[in-house]
Amino acid sequence: MAHTQYLKAVKITEKVYWVGAVDWNVRDFHGYKTERGSTYNAYLIMDEKITLIDSVKAPFKNHLMSRIKSLIDPTKIDYIVSNHAEPDHSGCLAEVVAEIKPEKLFASVAGKKALEAHYTFDMEITAVKTGDEISIGKDAIKFIETKMLHWPDSMFSYLVNDKLLFSQDAFGMHLAGSQLFADEYSADILFHESEKYYANILLLYSGKIKQLLEQLPSFNLDIDIICPDHGPVWRRPEDIEKVLSWYSSWCEQTFSNKAIVIYDTMWHSTEAMALAIGDGLRDSGCVTEIINVTARDRSYVATQMLEAGAIVVGSPTLNNNIFPSMADVLTYLRGLRPEKRIGAAFGSLGWSGEAVKQLEEYLQSMKVEIVAEAIRQKYVPTEDDLKKCYDMGMTVGSELLKRLNK
Ligand code: FEO
Repeated sequence: MAHTQYLKAVKITEKVYWVGAVDWNVRDFHGYKTERGSTYNAYLIMDEKITLIDSVKAPFKNHLMSRIKSLIDPTKIDYIVSNHAEPDHSGCLAEVVAEIKPEKLFASVAGKKALEAHYTFDMEITAVKTGDEISIGKDAIKFIETKMLHWPDSMFSYLVNDKLLFSQDAFGMHLAGSQLFADEYSADILFHESEKYYANILLLYSGKIKQLLEQLPSFNLDIDIICPDHGPVWRRPEDIEKVLSWYSSWCEQTFSNKAIVIYDTMWHSTEAMALAIGDGLRDSGCVTEIINVTARDRSYVATQMLEAGAIVVGSPTLNNNIFPSMADVLTYLRGLRPEKRIGAAFGSLGWSGEAVKQLEEYLQSMKVEIVAEAIRQKYVPTEDDLKKCYDMGMTVGSELLKRLNK
């Protein structure tokens, strides 16, 4: 890149520095709407073997190099560890390796394969596995594979004496900011962005996360600092406890008395049904949110689904199908594999009316238990028709509360 950068490293401990990039402008991360931007975090450990942990997305290579240069000549780097091969953390890695010529490049076994499939390196990648430890001088790095969290190659690196966990995507969030540490942001933003990140990226790996959290004590990791690959660094004990407890709760796929109605509408008949269903859900005692998918993006809907126990979906029929906007959102939600939810389907129609059946098929493929008979509304709903919608809301809401109180 032609521009000269004047960007500095940020100190985390006596020997660990953040040398990553802040992407203030990214708004779409392969479908995930990142309205607060993001960061691609990389870290430099200044021990006898100077070690770079992860790199950054390709266009930000000069940010990384500039921050490294604010501390040392990059060619002094001895080791590079790649915790995750996804290109937001490895896009410039081959170029960085060619420039720095480190003594060693470490990745998990699957990471080595993934990196070699993406890039050409002029050196061998050293594969490491769970329990392997390398000395970097006074300190050491221990590796823990975290397969499918969220790629097969993902792994954690733990800096033993500093008690610092490099957690790649885990415990991260898409949040651009000038401040590096979580305690420099509002609690609301941290929760909202962590929740959104979990809902959109990690929900479908909840089982693996549960397993990992259960295994963590057996690795004897005393964690003072968590350095993720996106968003702020967690350094206060109470914050580390907080983010771990969020993950413990989210991975259980527990839900609250929240019910969401997700719909699109052509001439407002399906919308009138959605509103009546929403009133029924509310009057049953549920916290209800009605989401028109043209007003909200799919990552917002996924975030609301994380907490919702009931999902009611509506669409008119367009050319013998559900609305494309609904197909988009439901395909996305299905991929995230929510568990233990209940739901129902509804929609208005003119003549063929396939949409409601298709909505039910989506719910079934998402393993959402259908607890109310679908409502197929011919053209415009009358007051009596809307009463049926209200009753559907009551039925779904009552069933959700019954399950919560079991
Ligand atoms: Fe942030 Fe999975 O890459």
